[in-house]
Amino acid sequence: MKQPGSGIAIIGSGSAVPATSLDNVGLSRIVDTSDEWIASRTGIRQRRLANPTLSLAKLAAEAAQAAIDQANLAPTEIDLILLATSTPDDLFGTACLVQAELGANRAVAFDLTAACSGFVFGLVTAAQFIRTGVYQNVLLIGADILSRWVDWSDRRTCVLFGDGAGAVVLQASDRDRLLSFELRSDGTQNHYLNLAFQPQPKEMVDDIAIGQGNFHPITMNGQEVYRFAVRRVPEVIEKALFRANLSTAEIDWLLLHQANQRILDAVGDRLKIPHEKIISNLAKYGNTSAASIPLALDEEVRQGKIKPDDTIVTAGFGAGLTWGAAIFQWGR
Ligand code: ACO
Repeated sequence: MKQPGSGIAIIGSGSAVPATSLDNVGLSRIVDTSDEWIASRTGIRQRRLANPTLSLAKLAAEAAQAAIDQANLAPTEIDLILLATSTPDDLFGTACLVQAELGANRAVAFDLTAACSGFVFGLVTAAQFIRTGVYQNVLLIGADILSRWVDWSDRRTCVLFGDGAGAVVLQASDRDRLLSFELRSDGTQNHYLNLAFQPQPKEMVDDIAIGQGNFHPITMNGQEVYRFAVRRVPEVIEKALFRANLSTAEIDWLLLHQANQRILDAVGDRLKIPHEKIISNLAKYGNTSAASIPLALDEEVRQGKIKPDDTIVTAGFGAGLTWGAAIFQWGR
Protein backbone atom coordinates (compact mmCIF):
# COMPACT_ATOMS: atom_id res chain seq x y z
CA MET A 1 0.00 0.00 0.00
CA LYS A 2 1.22 3.47 -0.81
CA GLN A 3 2.27 5.41 2.29
CA PRO A 4 0.53 8.76 2.67
CA GLY A 5 2.90 11.69 2.21
CA SER A 6 4.01 14.25 4.70
CA GLY A 7 1.68 16.93 3.39
CA ILE A 8 -1.50 18.02 5.12
CA ALA A 9 -5.05 18.02 3.82
CA ILE A 10 -8.01 19.48 5.67
CA ILE A 11 -10.74 16.98 4.90
CA GLY A 12 -13.67 17.76 7.17
CA SER A 13 -15.27 20.54 9.18
CA GLY A 14 -18.01 20.78 11.76
CA SER A 15 -19.49 23.28 14.17
CA ALA A 16 -21.92 23.62 17.04
CA VAL A 17 -23.49 26.54 18.85
CA PRO A 18 -25.80 26.69 21.87
CA ALA A 19 -29.50 26.94 21.04
CA THR A 20 -30.10 30.12 23.06
CA SER A 21 -29.45 33.45 21.39
CA LEU A 22 -29.47 36.97 22.82
CA ASP A 23 -29.81 39.90 20.44
CA ASN A 24 -28.59 43.44 21.01
CA VAL A 25 -32.04 44.64 22.06
CA GLY A 26 -32.14 41.94 24.75
CA LEU A 27 -28.63 42.89 25.82
CA SER A 28 -29.70 46.52 26.20
CA ARG A 29 -31.96 45.34 29.02
CA ILE A 30 -28.85 44.15 30.90
CA VAL A 31 -26.41 47.04 30.28
CA ASP A 32 -26.72 50.62 29.02
CA THR A 33 -26.24 50.01 25.29
CA SER A 34 -28.22 49.84 22.06
CA ASP A 35 -28.49 47.78 18.90
CA GLU A 36 -27.36 50.87 16.97
CA TRP A 37 -24.15 51.31 19.04
CA ILE A 38 -23.17 47.63 18.96
CA ALA A 39 -24.02 47.01 15.29
CA SER A 40 -22.35 50.18 13.99
CA ARG A 41 -19.14 49.71 16.04
CA THR A 42 -18.79 45.95 15.71
CA GLY A 43 -21.23 44.45 13.20
CA ILE A 44 -22.56 42.13 15.93
CA ARG A 45 -26.35 41.69 16.11
CA GLN A 46 -26.69 38.65 18.36
CA ARG A 47 -24.70 35.96 20.15
CA ARG A 48 -25.33 32.40 21.33
CA LEU A 49 -25.14 31.68 25.05
CA ALA A 50 -24.52 28.31 26.70
CA ASN A 51 -27.00 27.33 29.40
CA PRO A 52 -25.54 26.54 32.83
CA THR A 53 -25.51 22.77 32.29
CA LEU A 54 -23.87 22.72 28.82
CA SER A 55 -20.24 21.65 29.15
CA LEU A 56 -17.49 22.87 26.87
CA ALA A 57 -16.66 19.21 26.22
CA LYS A 58 -20.19 18.48 24.93
CA LEU A 59 -20.23 21.53 22.66
CA ALA A 60 -16.74 20.71 21.35
CA ALA A 61 -17.63 17.05 20.81
CA GLU A 62 -20.73 17.98 18.78
CA ALA A 63 -18.63 20.10 16.42
CA ALA A 64 -15.94 17.42 16.32
CA GLN A 65 -18.35 14.60 15.46
CA ALA A 66 -19.69 16.62 12.53
CA ALA A 67 -16.14 17.16 11.24
CA ILE A 68 -15.27 13.47 11.64
CA ASP A 69 -18.45 12.50 9.76
CA GLN A 70 -17.67 14.90 6.93
CA ALA A 71 -14.15 13.46 6.73
CA ASN A 72 -15.68 9.97 6.42
CA LEU A 73 -13.71 8.65 9.36
CA ALA A 74 -14.63 6.83 12.55
CA PRO A 75 -13.65 8.42 15.89
CA THR A 76 -11.37 5.43 16.50
CA GLU A 77 -9.28 6.47 13.47
CA ILE A 78 -8.29 9.78 15.08
CA ASP A 79 -4.69 9.77 16.37
CA LEU A 80 -4.54 13.17 18.06
CA ILE A 81 -7.13 15.58 19.45
CA LEU A 82 -6.11 19.21 19.98
CA LEU A 83 -8.63 21.35 21.81
CA ALA A 84 -7.94 25.07 21.49
CA THR A 85 -9.79 26.77 24.32
CA SER A 86 -9.42 29.39 27.02
CA THR A 87 -12.55 28.30 28.85
CA PRO A 88 -12.01 24.67 29.85
CA ASP A 89 -14.46 22.69 31.95
CA ASP A 90 -11.46 21.62 33.98
CA LEU A 91 -8.15 23.47 34.35
CA PHE A 92 -6.39 20.10 34.16
CA GLY A 93 -7.64 19.89 30.58
CA THR A 94 -10.86 19.24 28.69
CA ALA A 95 -9.56 17.50 25.56
CA CYS A 96 -9.68 14.10 27.29
CA LEU A 97 -13.34 14.66 28.12
CA VAL A 98 -13.96 15.33 24.42
CA GLN A 99 -12.04 12.15 23.56
CA ALA A 100 -14.28 10.16 25.92
CA GLU A 101 -17.42 11.82 24.58
CA LEU A 102 -16.44 10.87 21.01
CA GLY A 103 -15.21 7.36 21.86
CA ALA A 104 -11.95 8.26 20.10
CA ASN A 105 -10.12 5.80 22.28
CA ARG A 106 -6.91 5.58 20.20
CA ALA A 107 -6.34 9.32 20.26
CA VAL A 108 -3.99 11.23 22.53
CA ALA A 109 -5.67 14.46 23.57
CA PHE A 110 -4.58 17.74 25.09
CA ASP A 111 -5.62 21.37 25.40
CA LEU A 112 -3.88 24.28 23.72
CA THR A 113 -4.38 27.84 24.97
CA ALA A 114 -3.79 30.82 22.71
CA ALA A 115 -7.09 32.70 23.13
CA CYS A 116 -8.51 33.91 19.82
CA SER A 117 -5.39 32.71 17.99
CA GLY A 118 -5.96 29.18 19.31
CA PHE A 119 -7.29 27.72 16.07
CA VAL A 120 -4.41 29.02 13.92
CA PHE A 121 -1.83 27.97 16.51
CA GLY A 122 -3.55 24.58 16.69
CA LEU A 123 -3.54 24.20 12.91
CA VAL A 124 0.22 24.68 12.83
CA THR A 125 0.74 22.38 15.83
CA ALA A 126 -1.34 19.65 14.19
CA ALA A 127 0.67 20.08 10.98
CA GLN A 128 3.94 19.42 12.81
CA PHE A 129 2.72 16.04 14.08
CA ILE A 130 1.60 15.09 10.58
CA ARG A 131 4.68 16.37 8.76
CA THR A 132 6.98 14.39 11.02
CA GLY A 133 5.02 11.25 10.16
CA VAL A 134 3.95 10.68 13.77
CA TYR A 135 0.18 10.91 13.24
CA GLN A 136 -2.12 10.47 10.24
CA ASN A 137 -5.44 11.88 11.41
CA VAL A 138 -5.66 14.89 13.69
CA LEU A 139 -8.84 16.44 15.05
CA LEU A 140 -8.48 20.14 15.83
CA ILE A 141 -11.26 21.85 17.76
CA GLY A 142 -11.65 25.51 18.67
CA ALA A 143 -14.27 25.94 21.38
CA ASP A 144 -15.03 28.62 23.92
CA ILE A 145 -17.80 29.56 26.34
CA LEU A 146 -16.69 33.09 27.10
CA SER A 147 -20.12 34.03 28.49
CA ARG A 148 -18.94 32.32 31.69
CA TRP A 149 -16.02 34.74 31.99
CA VAL A 150 -17.46 38.05 30.85
CA ASP A 151 -18.41 40.78 33.32
CA TRP A 152 -22.06 41.22 32.34
CA SER A 153 -22.12 44.67 33.93
CA ASP A 154 -19.25 45.93 31.72
CA ARG A 155 -20.78 47.20 28.47
CA ARG A 156 -17.33 47.73 26.92
CA THR A 157 -16.71 43.98 26.81
CA CYS A 158 -19.92 42.00 27.34
CA VAL A 159 -21.46 43.08 24.03
CA LEU A 160 -18.61 41.49 22.05
CA PHE A 161 -18.52 37.84 23.01
CA GLY A 162 -20.52 34.69 22.35
CA ASP A 163 -20.23 30.91 22.73
CA GLY A 164 -19.51 28.26 20.10
CA ALA A 165 -17.33 25.48 18.75
CA GLY A 166 -15.80 24.55 15.40
CA ALA A 167 -13.60 21.67 14.32
CA VAL A 168 -11.58 20.35 11.41
CA VAL A 169 -9.97 17.02 10.60
CA LEU A 170 -6.47 17.13 9.15
CA GLN A 171 -4.98 14.14 7.38
CA ALA A 172 -1.57 13.17 6.04
CA SER A 173 -1.60 13.59 2.29
CA ASP A 174 0.65 13.39 -0.77
CA ARG A 175 -0.57 16.82 -1.71
CA ASP A 176 0.36 19.51 0.83
CA ARG A 177 -2.57 21.86 1.34
CA LEU A 178 -1.01 23.96 4.12
CA LEU A 179 0.95 26.39 2.01
CA SER A 180 2.54 28.57 4.70
CA PHE A 181 2.14 30.12 8.13
CA GLU A 182 3.52 32.77 10.47
CA LEU A 183 2.89 32.82 14.23
CA ARG A 184 3.74 35.61 16.66
CA SER A 185 3.45 36.44 20.38
CA ASP A 186 4.15 39.53 22.46
CA GLY A 187 3.77 39.13 26.20
CA THR A 188 4.81 42.73 26.85
CA GLN A 189 1.29 43.71 25.74
CA ASN A 190 -0.44 41.03 27.79
CA HIS A 191 -2.23 43.61 29.95
CA TYR A 192 -4.42 44.79 27.07
CA LEU A 193 -6.63 41.70 27.28
CA ASN A 194 -6.83 39.46 30.31
CA LEU A 195 -8.79 36.73 32.00
CA ALA A 196 -6.38 36.55 34.89
CA PHE A 197 -6.16 34.58 38.10
CA GLN A 198 -6.36 36.86 41.12
CA PRO A 199 -4.73 35.21 44.12
CA GLN A 200 -5.63 36.21 47.66
CA PRO A 201 -2.90 35.49 50.23
CA LYS A 202 -3.75 32.66 52.57
CA GLU A 203 -1.58 32.06 55.64
CA MET A 204 -0.69 28.43 56.18
CA VAL A 205 1.76 27.69 58.98
CA ASP A 206 4.67 29.74 60.33
CA ASP A 207 5.80 32.10 57.54
CA ILE A 208 4.32 30.06 54.70
CA ALA A 209 1.58 31.70 52.65
CA ILE A 210 -0.05 30.62 49.41
CA GLY A 211 -2.33 32.36 46.94
CA GLN A 212 -5.90 31.16 46.47
CA GLY A 213 -8.73 32.77 44.58
CA ASN A 214 -10.63 32.96 41.34
CA PHE A 215 -10.24 34.26 37.83
CA HIS A 216 -11.18 37.88 37.30
CA PRO A 217 -13.63 38.41 34.40
CA ILE A 218 -12.31 39.63 31.04
CA THR A 219 -10.70 43.06 31.03
CA MET A 220 -9.78 44.71 27.75
CA ASN A 221 -8.36 47.93 26.36
CA GLY A 222 -10.52 47.90 23.24
CA GLN A 223 -8.74 50.68 21.40
CA GLU A 224 -5.29 49.16 21.90
CA VAL A 225 -6.51 45.71 20.82
CA TYR A 226 -8.11 47.28 17.76
CA ARG A 227 -4.89 49.11 16.85
CA PHE A 228 -2.82 45.96 17.42
CA ALA A 229 -5.08 43.83 15.20
CA VAL A 230 -5.26 46.26 12.30
CA ARG A 231 -1.48 46.75 12.31
CA ARG A 232 -0.15 43.28 13.07
CA VAL A 233 -2.55 40.98 11.24
CA PRO A 234 -1.76 42.31 7.73
CA GLU A 235 1.96 41.89 8.51
CA VAL A 236 1.71 38.18 9.26
CA ILE A 237 -0.60 37.63 6.31
CA GLU A 238 1.89 39.35 4.00
CA LYS A 239 4.67 37.19 5.38
CA ALA A 240 2.63 34.02 4.86
CA LEU A 241 1.71 35.12 1.31
CA PHE A 242 5.40 35.72 0.56
CA ARG A 243 6.35 32.27 1.85
CA ALA A 244 3.63 30.66 -0.24
CA ASN A 245 4.69 32.73 -3.25
CA LEU A 246 1.14 34.00 -3.66
CA SER A 247 -0.30 37.43 -4.31
CA THR A 248 -3.53 38.63 -2.69
CA ALA A 249 -5.20 38.37 -6.11
CA GLU A 250 -4.73 34.59 -5.95
CA ILE A 251 -6.62 34.31 -2.67
CA ASP A 252 -10.23 33.10 -2.77
CA TRP A 253 -11.17 33.86 0.84
CA LEU A 254 -9.96 35.95 3.75
CA LEU A 255 -11.04 34.15 6.92
CA LEU A 256 -10.13 36.27 9.94
CA HIS A 257 -10.92 35.74 13.59
CA GLN A 258 -14.42 37.18 13.90
CA ALA A 259 -13.79 39.95 16.44
CA ASN A 260 -15.21 43.06 14.84
CA GLN A 261 -16.46 43.85 11.32
CA ARG A 262 -14.38 47.03 11.34
CA ILE A 263 -11.22 45.00 11.93
CA LEU A 264 -12.17 42.58 9.14
CA ASP A 265 -12.76 45.43 6.71
CA ALA A 266 -9.64 47.38 7.73
CA VAL A 267 -7.40 44.31 7.31
CA GLY A 268 -9.04 43.54 3.96
CA ASP A 269 -8.49 47.14 2.82
CA ARG A 270 -4.83 47.13 3.85
CA LEU A 271 -4.28 43.94 1.87
CA LYS A 272 -6.43 45.18 -1.03
CA ILE A 273 -8.67 42.13 -0.74
CA PRO A 274 -12.20 42.94 -1.96
CA HIS A 275 -14.92 42.82 0.70
CA GLU A 276 -16.82 40.05 -1.07
CA LYS A 277 -13.90 37.73 -0.34
CA ILE A 278 -14.01 38.48 3.40
CA ILE A 279 -15.90 35.81 5.33
CA SER A 280 -18.06 37.22 8.10
CA ASN A 281 -20.62 35.64 10.39
CA LEU A 282 -20.10 37.74 13.49
CA ALA A 283 -23.49 39.40 13.12
CA LYS A 284 -24.95 36.06 14.26
CA TYR A 285 -22.41 34.89 16.81
CA GLY A 286 -20.20 37.77 18.00
CA ASN A 287 -16.63 36.94 18.98
CA THR A 288 -16.48 33.23 19.85
CA SER A 289 -12.71 33.29 20.48
CA ALA A 290 -10.98 30.04 19.41
CA ALA A 291 -14.22 28.83 17.79
CA SER A 292 -14.73 31.74 15.44
CA ILE A 293 -12.53 30.67 12.50
CA PRO A 294 -13.61 27.00 12.28
CA LEU A 295 -17.25 27.97 12.89
CA ALA A 296 -17.19 30.42 9.98
CA LEU A 297 -15.21 27.96 7.83
CA ASP A 298 -17.74 25.20 8.44
CA GLU A 299 -20.71 27.40 7.59
CA GLU A 300 -19.13 28.46 4.31
CA VAL A 301 -18.17 24.90 3.40
CA ARG A 302 -21.66 23.55 4.13
CA GLN A 303 -23.30 26.38 2.18
CA GLY A 304 -21.07 25.47 -0.77
CA LYS A 305 -19.37 28.87 -0.84
CA ILE A 306 -15.94 27.46 -0.05
CA LYS A 307 -15.21 24.80 -2.66
CA PRO A 308 -12.50 22.14 -2.96
CA ASP A 309 -9.15 23.68 -3.96
CA ASP A 310 -10.15 27.20 -2.86
CA THR A 311 -7.21 29.07 -1.34
CA ILE A 312 -7.95 30.52 2.08
CA VAL A 313 -5.93 32.99 4.11
CA THR A 314 -6.79 32.68 7.77
CA ALA A 315 -5.55 34.75 10.69
CA GLY A 316 -6.20 34.73 14.42
CA PHE A 317 -5.35 37.45 16.92
CA GLY A 318 -6.05 38.18 20.52
CA ALA A 319 -5.00 37.75 24.10
CA GLY A 320 -1.41 36.93 24.91
CA LEU A 321 -1.00 38.93 22.86
CA THR A 322 -0.89 36.33 20.12
CA TRP A 323 -1.45 36.50 16.39
CA GLY A 324 -0.79 34.35 13.40
CA ALA A 325 -1.74 33.59 9.82
CA ALA A 326 -1.93 30.41 7.76
CA ILE A 327 -2.69 29.80 4.10
CA PHE A 328 -4.36 26.56 3.08
CA GLN A 329 -6.41 25.01 0.34
CA TRP A 330 -9.67 23.36 1.26
CA GLY A 331 -10.23 19.68 0.64
CA ARG A 332 -8.36 16.45 -0.04
N1 ACO B 1 -22.80 50.64 24.33
C1 ACO B 1 -22.85 51.99 24.35
N2 ACO B 1 -21.77 52.75 24.58
C2 ACO B 1 -20.60 52.13 24.80
C3 ACO B 1 -20.48 50.74 24.80
C4 ACO B 1 -21.64 49.99 24.56
N3 ACO B 1 -21.63 48.63 24.53
N4 ACO B 1 -19.20 50.42 25.05
C5 ACO B 1 -18.52 51.56 25.20
N5 ACO B 1 -19.38 52.61 25.06
C6 ACO B 1 -19.08 54.02 25.13
C7 ACO B 1 -17.88 54.31 25.99
O1 ACO B 1 -18.25 54.42 27.36
C8 ACO B 1 -17.40 55.61 25.41
O2 ACO B 1 -18.20 56.65 25.91
P1 ACO B 1 -17.52 58.03 26.41
O3 ACO B 1 -16.87 58.59 25.18
O4 ACO B 1 -18.69 58.80 26.91
O5 ACO B 1 -16.54 57.61 27.47
C9 ACO B 1 -17.72 55.49 23.92
O6 ACO B 1 -18.71 54.47 23.83
C10 ACO B 1 -16.54 55.10 23.08
O7 ACO B 1 -15.85 54.01 23.70
P2 ACO B 1 -14.60 53.36 23.04
O8 ACO B 1 -14.08 52.27 23.91
O9 ACO B 1 -13.65 54.45 22.63
O10 ACO B 1 -15.23 52.70 21.72
P3 ACO B 1 -14.52 52.19 20.43
O11 ACO B 1 -14.95 52.97 19.27
O12 ACO B 1 -13.07 51.95 20.66
O13 ACO B 1 -15.19 50.76 20.26
C11 ACO B 1 -14.73 48.45 20.66
C12 ACO B 1 -15.04 49.78 21.28
C13 ACO B 1 -15.90 48.03 19.79
C14 ACO B 1 -14.55 47.43 21.79
C15 ACO B 1 -13.45 48.55 19.79
O14 ACO B 1 -12.43 49.20 20.50
C16 ACO B 1 -12.95 47.20 19.37
O15 ACO B 1 -13.58 46.47 18.64
N6 ACO B 1 -11.74 46.81 19.79
C17 ACO B 1 -11.19 45.50 19.51
C18 ACO B 1 -11.69 44.56 20.53
C19 ACO B 1 -11.52 43.11 20.16
O16 ACO B 1 -11.63 42.76 19.03
N7 ACO B 1 -11.29 42.30 21.20
C20 ACO B 1 -11.25 40.90 21.06
C21 ACO B 1 -9.88 40.40 20.73
S1 ACO B 1 -9.92 38.69 20.57
C22 ACO B 1 -9.57 37.88 22.02
O17 ACO B 1 -8.46 37.43 22.21
C23 ACO B 1 -10.65 37.67 23.05
